[in-house]
Amino acid sequence: MKIITGTIEELDALVAQEFVKVVNKKPNAVLGLATGTTPIGVYANLSKMCKEHKVFFTGVKTYNLDEYKGIDPENDQSYRYFMNKYLFSGIDVKIENTHVLSGKIASDAEAEKYDEEIANAGGIDIQILGIGSNGHIAFNEPGTKFDSKTHIVALTESTIKDNSRLFKSIDEVPTHAITMGLATIMKAKKIVLVAYGKNKALAIKKLIEDEPSESLPCSILKKHPDCTIYVDEDAYSLMK
Ligand code: GLP
Repeated sequence: MKIITGTIEELDALVAQEFVKVVNKKPNAVLGLATGTTPIGVYANLSKMCKEHKVFFTGVKTYNLDEYKGIDPENDQSYRYFMNKYLFSGIDVKIENTHVLSGKIASDAEAEKYDEEIANAGGIDIQILGIGSNGHIAFNEPGTKFDSKTHIVALTESTIKDNSRLFKSIDEVPTHAITMGLATIMKAKKIVLVAYGKNKALAIKKLIEDEPSESLPCSILKKHPDCTIYVDEDAYSLMK
């Protein structure tokens, strides 16, 4: 696992560059995408580069990590809404080639189908990840099996609390979600994890220092052959 530190602006540009490299080399690449506040700057860089004709997304397929259960794609709290707003509306991707799990019909059957669809598309060429303060990736909470595929999960108190900042009240935060599993994520050919802010510092320290363990979902990434973590000074602050 490689570690790159820098300012948020520098890291946003570097991560976007990694995506551009993959797409320029393979115009029909399969991209694994994430939500949360962290990737917004990366997506802004990608939109800018697309407008400057430095990259074209017309041939790519995208698969998002997760979605809240019970939420309509039209709901402004849905991850589909987020992706349309922060990335898909700013680039030339064909919307029918973008895939976000449906929170409305989140079911075990849909979960199983998602893994098959990704495999049939050729597998994910590059996957971006954020990280929860408890070390979750996508919505794989502590204790998730390393061999998990896409599945429905109950969110932990800490994730509900963290994510409540984006809702009017904590009671509005969905209690369940549908998420790519850890084994699904590990199949990506290249993984970039981005972590900004002091509330990620403990998870980053544990990720760097501890042995892989199911109690820290992100620690599975240490077993991946091509994973780089991009951390700003605050997220790296406990390492100094
Ligand atoms: C949610 C998402 C994760 C994301 C995390 C961190 O829980 N399911 O994929 O990494 O939030 O979000 P943020 O980037 O806003 O800190």
